[in-house]
Amino acid sequence: MADFQKTIFQSKAQISKAAADLFVNKSKSSIQEKGQFVVSLSGGSTPKVLFELLATEPYSSQIEWAKVHLFWGDERCVSPDHADSNYRMTRLALLDHIPIPATNVNRIKGELSPENAAADYNVVLKEFFGDESYVFDLCFLGMGDDGHTASIFPETSAVQLKGQKAKEVYVEKLSAWRITLSADILNSSKWIVFLVAGSGKAEALKEVFVGEFNPSLYPSQLIRSAENQVEWYLDNQAAALL
Ligand code: 6PG
Repeated sequence: MADFQKTIFQSKAQISKAAADLFVNKSKSSIQEKGQFVVSLSGGSTPKVLFELLATEPYSSQIEWAKVHLFWGDERCVSPDHADSNYRMTRLALLDHIPIPATNVNRIKGELSPENAAADYNVVLKEFFGDESYVFDLCFLGMGDDGHTASIFPETSAVQLKGQKAKEVYVEKLSAWRITLSADILNSSKWIVFLVAGSGKAEALKEVFVGEFNPSLYPSQLIRSAENQVEWYLDNQAAALL
């Protein structure tokens, strides 16, 4: 198995503080090096506390928000004000409280048809990154109880998705459409951090870390790359079977 760099914390609150510190430190080094900090955010519920921390002191004023560019690793195909929207969760926890230019926030337009939402996001990505490969300075990811990450769900077309692109994917078990970045884009990131908390993740985490390589069943296994750092911030409950 790839070498997974894991850090185990006492609680989700401690994971969130460590992730906020990392965000501040990476933002400083990226902005110093190239004048901007490009981040892919994860959705779901885990990152909410992190986003709330980044919106408050001592974190917010340490971040040059005008030089931060935000993207999402995935989105639900719902309107931006829908309760399930990853963008809405991020807006309420973070965006409404920080001086980030609207043009720096690259929302996946879940209100469009799935195909058009993916096509629109691919235009946004290409306009920002150009023809180069899409490299995020920092990529946050979560992992579902079933081992999915972003919206690369087990046994869906997203597992085989290749290249630098976003794609619509129908998730049978949710009876819902999602938009997801491909594992190839996620793996191009300079630094990837999974934030995983709760006992519900323990079984899948054991499979991802020490089980057979079977990304169709455990898509989080797709996230690996010799070039970059893949770190896992886990709480005790999620790491209980490791
Ligand atoms: C989403 C996410 C997804 C999430 C995991 C974990 O849109 O749901 O991007 O990949 O990170 O499902 O979700 P929780 O943090 O809610 O456990």
